[in-house]
Amino acid sequence: MERLQKVLASAGLGSRRKCEEFIRAGRVSVNGRIVERMGVRADPSVDRIELDGIPIDVHEDKVYIILNKPAGYVTTVSDPQARLTVMELVTKARRIFPIGRLDRDTRGLLLFTDDGFLANRVAHPRFELEKTYVAQVNGAAGAGELARLRSGIELEDGRTAPARVRVLGRRDHNSLLELRVHEGRKRQVRRMLVAVGLEVVDLVRTSLGPLTLQGLEEGESRPLRPDEVQALMSALDI
Ligand code: URA
Repeated sequence: MERLQKVLASAGLGSRRKCEEFIRAGRVSVNGRIVERMGVRADPSVDRIELDGIPIDVHEDKVYIILNKPAGYVTTVSDPQARLTVMELVTKARRIFPIGRLDRDTRGLLLFTDDGFLANRVAHPRFELEKTYVAQVNGAAGAGELARLRSGIELEDGRTAPARVRVLGRRDHNSLLELRVHEGRKRQVRRMLVAVGLEVVDLVRTSLGPLTLQGLEEGESRPLRPDEVQALMSALDI
C-alpha cells in the first residue's frame, strides 16, 4: 500500500505535486470511488485506480526478465537451507521475484518481474497461460498413457484439466513427450507422468504463453523485448 499520489507518480502521470492536484480536483478514483482527500493509500496490484475514468498504467517502468533455468536451482527469493537459488542467475538492479516456480530439477523458461499486477494474473486460473513442457521419460508411452494424459488425471489435489500431448520421439525404453497444460499446480507434470507409470528423467519448460526460450542458452537471462512484453500482456487481457 502506498500513498495515492505516489502510485500515480510512479505510473508516469507527473510529479507527486501534480498528482496531488489531480486528487484535489476529484479526477482520481479507487475501485470506482472518487478520492478527494489526501493521505489515502492504495495498492496498484489489487486496486483499480483511474484518472478521469481511465485506468492508470501501473506497468510503466517495470522489468520483465526471462531465464533459461538450469537444473539444481530452487525457485525462491531466499532459501533458509542456503541452497542455490534462481536469484543467483539474474541481474537484480531492482527487487524482482520469480513468477510461479520450476522444481529444482526442472529446467527451462522462468520469468522474473517487479510487476505484482502482472504476476498475479499469470498465476490466476482465469488467465492461466498455456505452458509447454518437454519431458524425457523412462518407459514406452503408448496409446493408453497418452489417452489418460489427454483426458485428465486424478491426482490427490483433484483431476487435472485435459492436456495436449504428443510424442516427439521414442528410443529403446525412453520417450520424449511434449505436454501443453494450462494449470500450474505443484509438480503437476511430474505427478501426471508418474500417475500413468512413466518415470521422469528430464523436464524442461519450453514456453509460457507467447514466450519461448529461443536464442537463450541454459543459464542465460535477458530482459524481455517490448514486443514480448506486449504479447504477454495481451495474453493476460492487460
Ligand atoms: N510441473 C512439474 O512437475 N514441475 C515443474 O517444475 C513445472 C511443472
